[in-house]
Amino acid sequence: MNLAAAPSVEARIAAGAHGFSYRSGVLAAEEVPLAEIAAAVATPLYCYATAGLLGQYQALRDAFAGRAVQICYALKANDNLAVVRTFAAAGAGADIVSVGELHRALAAGVPPGRIVFSGVGKTTAEMATALAAGIHQFNVESLPELETLAAVAGAAGTRAPVVIRINPDVDAGTHDKIATGRKQDKFGVDWTAAPAIFARAAALASIDLVGIAVHIGSQLTSLAPYTAAFGRVAEMVRTLRGQGIRIDRLDLGGGLGVRYSDETPLAPAAYARLIAATVGELGCALTIEPGRFLVANSGVLLTRVILVKESAGRRFVIVDAGMNDLIRPALYGAHHTILPVVAPRQDAVWTPADVVGPVCESGDIFARDRPLPPVAADDLLVLLSAGAYSSVMASRYNSRPPAPDVQVHGRAFAVTRRRLSHAEMLAAETLPPWLGPESRP
Ligand code: LLP
Repeated sequence: MNLAAAPSVEARIAAGAHGFSYRSGVLAAEEVPLAEIAAAVATPLYCYATAGLLGQYQALRDAFAGRAVQICYALKANDNLAVVRTFAAAGAGADIVSVGELHRALAAGVPPGRIVFSGVGKTTAEMATALAAGIHQFNVESLPELETLAAVAGAAGTRAPVVIRINPDVDAGTHDKIATGRKQDKFGVDWTAAPAIFARAAALASIDLVGIAVHIGSQLTSLAPYTAAFGRVAEMVRTLRGQGIRIDRLDLGGGLGVRYSDETPLAPAAYARLIAATVGELGCALTIEPGRFLVANSGVLLTRVILVKESAGRRFVIVDAGMNDLIRPALYGAHHTILPVVAPRQDAVWTPADVVGPVCESGDIFARDRPLPPVAADDLLVLLSAGAYSSVMASRYNSRPPAPDVQVHGRAFAVTRRRLSHAEMLAAETLPPWLGPESRP
């Protein structure tokens, strides 16, 4: 390892985090030093910078300047109410995949007319609730789902606005677990079989068939898979129109990648140009469903070192966040850059460390052999790029309350999802009568 070449912490933050910077040697979210938040809220915690969130939203808006493209933020990336409200207030709609996300989107102030409902397994109860709420459209992924939705809408005496998600059999070139557009993936309707399903949708009285959806995967860093997928969508529009089927809307999904380590993310302008070139001339209303792009690099996981353990020649830095708070490294082998909150001295020597959580699993590892400056118990570290698919994928494993969410705006910060107490974690559980009385403290 060439230690002399290690980039400064300032440079790493500038390259990979939106709304965070070192101020007088201490990492701050906008104008708030993270040490101040750690002292007030206790670690581990997630911290989001409003300026970063809005900056990404605006960058995407600007890329589509002059074109009517509705951005429906994919709540699955981060469903915190304050995060969703931040985007809703800026004009975003919502892409939801459950009735739980529907309630959140509505509570955050997203107008129902800007909500699209994706997902391969919507229940009849979810369909009925979303219909009654008056959402913009259902992104239907199979014939059985179409028939069920038709029955639910018929019973409610209404018509369901529907786009059908096609599976274009395109490999997004991303991690296997987040590729969704290959024919072996469970998502969408095989594009070669799709015309029959569109014809059926057009014939159902309680279905208002309005368009086509596609989403081929997440963390895309090349344009080629988008070109292939959108090309198939355009082909499908022409085929269907040729059969007298009305197609007015296209939902082009999400997937824009971000920088976790040294990726070169797609420029929003190049993505916008590609959309214009592939489907721009079809006269359809366009929707996109970005999640990660809008939130990933505007959030960090702030954690405190519990202790440093040297064992068998390895340096284990044991922190108070665990795989229950951030599962991406364990689940996908994902890279999250780790930096100290207090900038190290210029001459500090960075040596390899294993940064691990306290959870009782060998897989509870955030990074292996990661160069870090000297760190000691009680030091604060951040894991970058933790705004997307991080807090939202937390669990209670090891009876650990998931890290709370904090949002910063200028000099202000607020806990936007608090940490549950141990009593609250137990509150949903009851002992059956045969096990005798409880003895809660
Ligand atoms: N639309 C649909 C239908 C989706 O399935 C997804 C993501 C999105 C939009 C948003 O995609 P994005 O713009 O965020 O790439 N947990 C994984 C990512 C799972 C993505 C699932 N679908 C991770 O941590 O990388």
